[in-house]
Amino acid sequence: MAGLLEGRSTIVTGGASGIGRATALAFAEEGAKVAIADTDLAGAEETAEMIRAKGGEAYAVECDVTDQAAVDAFVDGVAERWGGIDAAFNNAGISPEDFTVPWGDLGPADLTMDTNYRAVLLCMAAELRHMVKAGKGSIIGTSSIAGQSGNGGAGYCASKHAVIGLTKSAAVKYAPMGIRVNCVCPGVIETGMTAPLIADPQANAFLKTLQPMPRIGQASEIADAVVFLASDKSSFITGHPLVVDGGCLAR
Ligand SMILES: NC(=O)c1ccc[n+]([C@@H]2O[C@H](COP(=O)([O-])OP(=O)(O)OC[C@H]3O[C@@H](n4cnc5c(N)ncnc54)[C@H](O)[C@@H]3O)[C@@H](O)[C@H]2O)c1
Repeated sequence: MAGLLEGRSTIVTGGASGIGRATALAFAEEGAKVAIADTDLAGAEETAEMIRAKGGEAYAVECDVTDQAAVDAFVDGVAERWGGIDAAFNNAGISPEDFTVPWGDLGPADLTMDTNYRAVLLCMAAELRHMVKAGKGSIIGTSSIAGQSGNGGAGYCASKHAVIGLTKSAAVKYAPMGIRVNCVCPGVIETGMTAPLIADPQANAFLKTLQPMPRIGQASEIADAVVFLASDKSSFITGHPLVVDGGCLAR
């Protein structure tokens, strides 16, 4: 039976690890060709190799998504190689803030906005240029439960709210052109980003109390939602922030 994304040309940013890697693998599992961008080239190559080892088609590019020229070159390269872009997961993100720091002492908030918001817009802009020509495409961003609540510090929380605003605005503007734009809002997921907290027994126990499902989520559970949004199974869904959080925000 053909996969949900059989033969499609796809992009995953931040695909060297965590949610991005899990999604790149899931895209390939559904028959997609996957181009992976990350600043961590070794990790991105490893993801691509995992796909190729199973008979899939994938390649990795070292790309800092905050660098417009690098993003344009990456996205144009994918379109040229595979004749267009069917789906893109703009997922690369950072969480460098210590959320306990008083706001008078904040440092890295600008860097967070630059990566988690501005770079998502840069990727989207580059992808839309190709999708508009084709009259189709699906773009998915990574927001967070911090995009729908006041938890998550200053820059991180603001950046993830911004992703939802960008998603809705792009969805409205590009729906008449056949392009859907959605995002996922993960809860607490076991990845490199959360590893220090998960390794701390006290923090770990606290994290498990955040959602009615008394456990931490897995990257593959976000990947499944992204596959759905990338595929035709979500053909009438656009502008939607899909929460995947074990019930955390339902409280
Ligand atoms: N893990 C969670 O609990 C959680 C919850 C909500 C949202 N998120 C979001 O999920 C996304 C993926 O995070 P993750 O948890 O998989 O963490 P991760 O650290 O495992 O993955 C992030 C990836 O993004 C890459 N990256 C960072 N800055 C980049 C840049 N400028 N250019 C290119 N690549 C860059 C990193 O090298 C890394 O491979 C992020 O946007 C994060 O904010 C994570």
